[in-house]
Amino acid sequence: MIDFRGGATIESGGRLLAVPVYADRTWGPGAAQAAGAIGDGLEGQLDLLDFTGKLGQVAIVPASGSPFATYAFVGLGDDVDLEVVRQAAGWLARSVSRIEEIATTMHLIDVDGAAAAFAEGFQLGLYRFDKYRSESEPPSVEAVVFVGDDGGAAAEAAAAAAPGIEGAMLTRDLINEPANGKSPETLAGIAAGIAGEYGLHIRVYEPSEFGDERFGGLMGVAAGAANPARMVELLYQPEDPKAFIALVGKGIVFDSGGLSLKPAANMEDMKTDMSGAAVVFGAMKAIASAGLPVKVLGITPITENMPGGSATRPGDVLVPRNGTSVEVLNTDAEGRLVLADGLSLAAERSPDLIVDVATLTGACVIALGEKIGGLWSNDDDAAEQVLRASARSGERFWRMPLPADYRKALDSTVADLKNISGSRYGGAIHAALFLKEYVGENRWVHLDIAGPARWKEEEHYLRKGGSGFGVRTLLALAEELATT
Ligand code: BES
Ligand code: ZN
Ligand code: ZN
Repeated sequence: MIDFRGGATIESGGRLLAVPVYADRTWGPGAAQAAGAIGDGLEGQLDLLDFTGKLGQVAIVPASGSPFATYAFVGLGDDVDLEVVRQAAGWLARSVSRIEEIATTMHLIDVDGAAAAFAEGFQLGLYRFDKYRSESEPPSVEAVVFVGDDGGAAAEAAAAAAPGIEGAMLTRDLINEPANGKSPETLAGIAAGIAGEYGLHIRVYEPSEFGDERFGGLMGVAAGAANPARMVELLYQPEDPKAFIALVGKGIVFDSGGLSLKPAANMEDMKTDMSGAAVVFGAMKAIASAGLPVKVLGITPITENMPGGSATRPGDVLVPRNGTSVEVLNTDAEGRLVLADGLSLAAERSPDLIVDVATLTGACVIALGEKIGGLWSNDDDAAEQVLRASARSGERFWRMPLPADYRKALDSTVADLKNISGSRYGGAIHAALFLKEYVGENRWVHLDIAGPARWKEEEHYLRKGGSGFGVRTLLALAEELATT
């Protein structure tokens, strides 16, 4: 983690000072002083660099003879909110990653929480997944000094953002890890590591227990895989909790489709299919390390979906834990099968709210594109609560309907349900209606992150690969529940 410090002045000097600039080169806090220190040549230099102050622009201007050796002018555009500060900080991080210590006035931008948002965007923007490269250059930035932050309030606010940042980075690491480096057993070990670090309770169910536990969905999906599956339960139980939430995450370590095999093109992306479980781990790490007074139960069914000789066949019937049987007509619709067991377990504990997170359907990506998650809920207040958290985190979700009359598309001729609708349309909705059968009377929110779990381009604080999308929303949700 970066060391955030208060105290420096614009005159104090150093390698680099980063200052914010609004659209049409309207100076933000500290930028006029920086411009004054550089002197006459600045406007010409910014012209050459085509820097107008748009979000996404960063102009690096060397200035000998002034307090700082270099200045970074960071574009904010004309409509500034917390997410803009995060994104501008992310763009800045990309330009200054080789400098050990930078100074900035970005925390003085006039939006509530600017220092924390800067910390998030800056550190997430420095993230890299280099563990498998023989040669790597980790970023050199070690410290950020907030200019004028004499009492250290901004530095403190930035440091307080660490739980969400570290949680999201853990989630990115787990998603980016190739499937041959994250067997269910390995992921259960990661969960045990989090439990050890933060004093959580953990229970790991092994395949020998699945029958007694009636994990029929998980057993069915795991049937074709050589690596043994796991069901992991993590429990964060603070003293005097203000609320109790259950988080359920889809943990398909690799989704080949099973016997309903996926096409070869882009199949490698299906190592991402455990993002739901990774988000649950990251969120629990964040919530526990922030010490929030909210009881959190995390449930993650973890397995590969493979077409081995003992794999579940189309037409097979599975019975998940709550007894609602399923005819499997497509083995590639496996996420809902393992979530059926996870949601059943969560429902038995009667939490105040169940939230499941899953890279559940390609149809959700068709509906909302790659950067917005789908949200379904059986409770308007719960939906609003999560949407508020999402607005704070900058992770965009959009509420989708749960139309009761669509449920009949899941009627099976041999079981209580079938696992696909048989229609080309509304696939993400049918998947959500399927999950609803396993939550009982509990308040429940379903988050489909099939698109945003993996980022396809380099932009601001997101890098290509696992995004950690969802972690900071769940943390923000827990923060709200902690105060009500
Ligand atoms: N893991 C996939 C969904 C997915 C697709 C995630 C693209 C990320 C990107 C899921 O298990 C799946 O294969 N769903 C099928 C369902 C279909 C068979 C009803 C799909 O979306 O095509
Ligand atoms: Zn699938
Ligand atoms: Zn899947």
